[in-house]
Amino acid sequence: MCGIIGYCGQKPAVPIILEALKRLEYRGYDSAGIACLCDGKLLIEKDAGKVDEIIRKRSLADVPGNVAIGHTRWATHGAVTQVNAHPHSDCSGSAAVVHNGIIENSEQLRQELTRMGHRFTSETDTEVIPHLLEDEIKNGLSLEQAVLNIAPKLEGSYAFLVASLNDPGKIIGTRRNNPLVVGIDAPDYYVSSDALAFSPYTNQVMSLEDNEVVVLAAGKVEFFDARGNKLVKQARQLDHTWTENHKGSYQHFMLKEIMEQAQVLDQTIHQDEKTFNTIALDILRARQVIITACGSSRYAALVGRYLFSRVGKRFCDVVMASEFGYFADSVDKNTVVIAVSQSGETADVVDGVKAARAAEAQVISIINRPNSILADLSHQVIHLNCGPEMAVAATKSFLSQLAIFYLLSFAMVNAFEEAAAKLTDLSSELTRVLDWNKSELIRLSRTLKDKSDFYYIARGINFAIASEGALKLKEISYIHAEGMPAGELKHGTLALIGPGTPVVVVCPADYTFSETLSNAIEAKTRGAYIIGVSDRESDVYDSWIKIPQVDELLYPMVAVVPLHLLAYYLAINRGCDPDRPRNLAKSVTVK
Ligand code: M6R
Repeated sequence: MCGIIGYCGQKPAVPIILEALKRLEYRGYDSAGIACLCDGKLLIEKDAGKVDEIIRKRSLADVPGNVAIGHTRWATHGAVTQVNAHPHSDCSGSAAVVHNGIIENSEQLRQELTRMGHRFTSETDTEVIPHLLEDEIKNGLSLEQAVLNIAPKLEGSYAFLVASLNDPGKIIGTRRNNPLVVGIDAPDYYVSSDALAFSPYTNQVMSLEDNEVVVLAAGKVEFFDARGNKLVKQARQLDHTWTENHKGSYQHFMLKEIMEQAQVLDQTIHQDEKTFNTIALDILRARQVIITACGSSRYAALVGRYLFSRVGKRFCDVVMASEFGYFADSVDKNTVVIAVSQSGETADVVDGVKAARAAEAQVISIINRPNSILADLSHQVIHLNCGPEMAVAATKSFLSQLAIFYLLSFAMVNAFEEAAAKLTDLSSELTRVLDWNKSELIRLSRTLKDKSDFYYIARGINFAIASEGALKLKEISYIHAEGMPAGELKHGTLALIGPGTPVVVVCPADYTFSETLSNAIEAKTRGAYIIGVSDRESDVYDSWIKIPQVDELLYPMVAVVPLHLLAYYLAINRGCDPDRPRNLAKSVTVK
């Protein structure tokens, strides 16, 4: 959930690190810091706050030196304070460490190190790393050997970088269960949690496997396995579309990502039909199919479940990834597990997939970010191809996931091409739905911005869209919201509906329309303010969000777009930053 970056080369390091930190902020943005080696000194600057604020506050831009590391934090151990921000150092102040992940045995290590005389200054789990390294270096080991020696003592997940006065021209990095990728542009070298961090400079990358170590030094990069044996690696080229991440003329990434969905859909549809047919066959042949995911990805999976049942006549279950392990007893080699994750690095999903692999299940992943941990763990991977999603809130990736499930379900009945053609036609409808509703959504967001609770209801294939709309609202505007199957409203939640309570009713003119509308009437009778998301007008609605008439299995895609936009405008009207909601991060790499 944190972002780390290192640079070693011939250019001034700090401006590169600071720019990279801004690109990594989607991974965490409660504090940030840098460490720079220059003229025999190790300079560490860090603070709580966003990268731009810290740069201004600490006048970081002009710090000299050609070797530096940086960190942007999402707090796990220790409050959001200046002392807990990374980099962390040892007692002598000669090494600096930035870390992404959690050292699970940090308490025990901290006690041992304290007994041995080490003095800790922060509350973080990370700080054990520089202190452990300090002892190894005192014993005469090189920095890379010290890293190799301490790695087996660390339990949990990590990717960390070290810069030290003891070996001032170098940065050492290693990882276990957290991403780390090296960027090559000789004689300049980069290392980061995400290639996006150094994307303006190079798209030539080399990845590290678990427990491998990388050494960046003047004019060279070297890799070692856990035993210190030298490794030979080939660089590969990243797709340039992955490296573009400008807001363009938009005020926020979230708005840009909502607006570019028509184009994204076209990119997503470009899939290999043969792969889809093979996967569809595996799904049909399996004894059971389980889809696992978190957050929005899980809601996309719930739509997928209806599509599998409706089109492929294949029942499957959707299990929240954080709960997957508790069902692992029934997973076996005749099970297909489909893992859905935009980032490909959500810890709960990764853990679930590991449990599935241990039970010999076949694992298929639906991922956006290329070269992720989840991709490495999967037998087959489907890429969303929707490009980097920078806002914490998932929007375009959600739409792409829906498209993938649509294609997969049609592949089950040998109709991949038919599905691809229908999706192609849909892209213009997505643009239309935005044009039609923009002003009404802005009006609604102004009128409803002070409401404390929203309810979202829908039925059948659209139910998960209600949940997705509610999640988005909570996440970026901090308004309490619940999404539920419309039929459930009367089993408890109706007690909370009173005069003026906003109830968003997703009721396209499909097989769910009449019953959903009846539930809307029940809410309206109690005074609710009904926002109808439908292609069919009704007197029941106090506000009508008009969607186009489409094939009934495609309604989730046209209905979700205005709900994302409503959440966006509500966040703006409440003065919230929709790209960086409080307490959250884009990649949730902790359990
Ligand atoms: O990267 P993933 O798809 O695995 O992430 C899962 C959730 O953390 C994510 O969808 C989260 O719920 C979003 N921020 C919602 O907008």
